[in-house]
Amino acid sequence: MPKSPEQKDGSENQTPKSNFIDSFFTHFSTTKPKMKRTVRPFFILLLLLVFIATLTSRAILRKGILSIELEARVFTRDPPSLNATLLHHAAVEIGEEKTRREIQQLLDGNFASQARHRTFVSWRRFIHHDGGDKTYPATLRSPLFYRYWIDFRRVLHDWARKRRFQPGIMAELTRSVKVPIDRYNKAVNVDSGDLKKYSSCAVVGNSGILLNRNYGALIDAHEFVIRLNNARVDNYESKVGKKTSISFVNSNILHLCARRSGCFCHPYGANVPIVMYICQAVHFLDYTVCNASHKSPLLVTDPRFDVLCSRVVKYYSLKRFVEETGKGLEQWGSAHDGALFHYSSGMQAVMLALGVCEKVSLFGFGKSAAAKHHYHTNQKAELHLHDYEAEYAFYRDLMEGDKPIPFVSEKFKIPPVVMYR
Ligand SMILES: *[C@@H]1O[C@H](CO)[C@@H](O)[C@H](O)[C@H]1NC(C)=O
Ligand SMILES: *[C@@H]1O[C@H](CO)[C@@H](O)[C@H](O)[C@H]1NC(C)=O
Repeated sequence: MPKSPEQKDGSENQTPKSNFIDSFFTHFSTTKPKMKRTVRPFFILLLLLVFIATLTSRAILRKGILSIELEARVFTRDPPSLNATLLHHAAVEIGEEKTRREIQQLLDGNFASQARHRTFVSWRRFIHHDGGDKTYPATLRSPLFYRYWIDFRRVLHDWARKRRFQPGIMAELTRSVKVPIDRYNKAVNVDSGDLKKYSSCAVVGNSGILLNRNYGALIDAHEFVIRLNNARVDNYESKVGKKTSISFVNSNILHLCARRSGCFCHPYGANVPIVMYICQAVHFLDYTVCNASHKSPLLVTDPRFDVLCSRVVKYYSLKRFVEETGKGLEQWGSAHDGALFHYSSGMQAVMLALGVCEKVSLFGFGKSAAAKHHYHTNQKAELHLHDYEAEYAFYRDLMEGDKPIPFVSEKFKIPPVVMYR
């Protein structure tokens, strides 16, 4: 309930009143000294009355404000399990300043770090050698590279401009991801603006627990199958299925594959649609060059979607940190290498599925002491820059169905989520 201006602040009413009395009193006491004696008791009485009246009205006012606040709390309060302190801390991006600086440096053509400069130089060389045309001097301003450079700056600039928190971004995912992929698959109704979601989606994580079951056929029975980070399916079909609707990757996967012969820009081949989040701004260089030859969509996640995912995971990570260590929130950053902390590809793939599907099934999430970390590699440990436990807590809330998810707009209806273990 909105408060009217008078209710907002009880002291507003009082100030002009007491000023008036002051000046009235001064007026009488200075200009009419003769009346002073008789008038004084009268004024003291008057002052007393006004004082009492003010106190009472303030008390009434305060009581009024209190009941308004209580009422407001009953009707619009945050769901009880979301903690305002955690929400506040989760909204602070520790590496924000550094990221902005890096983006600006890149836009200015300043590579600042050795590693970034190497990326740039090797791309330049690569383009000239692979283009087969060695008549151009290998300088930035050769026509081909110059075109990529212009594209790179445009794409990076647009991305940086959009990068902010927008809780409603979940509702845009069908348009920004599903529509281009359906169009590529020549699905019907795409151009008539049909924003229907997929009837069912499977998100296939890479946990070794997949090897314990034969979920392959079940996974492939989903309308839309999201796989993570270029995970192999050959020889694992009975365990993980073989259908891949999109491969969800972080930009480092593309970066590492981009100039490697046999991989060149297409970790799954040029016909598998890729949705990729940018983990380092310089990777837009890989994106710009690779996008041209990728025959299917190569989509970069909306930076507003990235910001939303970051906040959600950070909320769960902060919560876990405080509950398990008993330490203060301000110590989270040093415990988790705050500036590097990042959600995992799996988490964002799940968020994407929530946005584009009517029903979501998760496979290959979670670990067990008996299972390998990845079903297809021998990687032993989890990466420190992710907080998988926090992400599992998030998935558990999704599966319960009635839990509020921090930062996601209340207007967005979260579809049912099931996890297969
Ligand atoms: C919110 O979380 C903070 C930090 O964990 C804690 O100190 C505080 O008591 C919590 N508030 C509520 C209302 O639960
Ligand atoms: C990427 O390539 C597709 C298809 O060639 C094109 O439609 C799209 O505009 C490109 N994206 C960017 C950002 O250049």
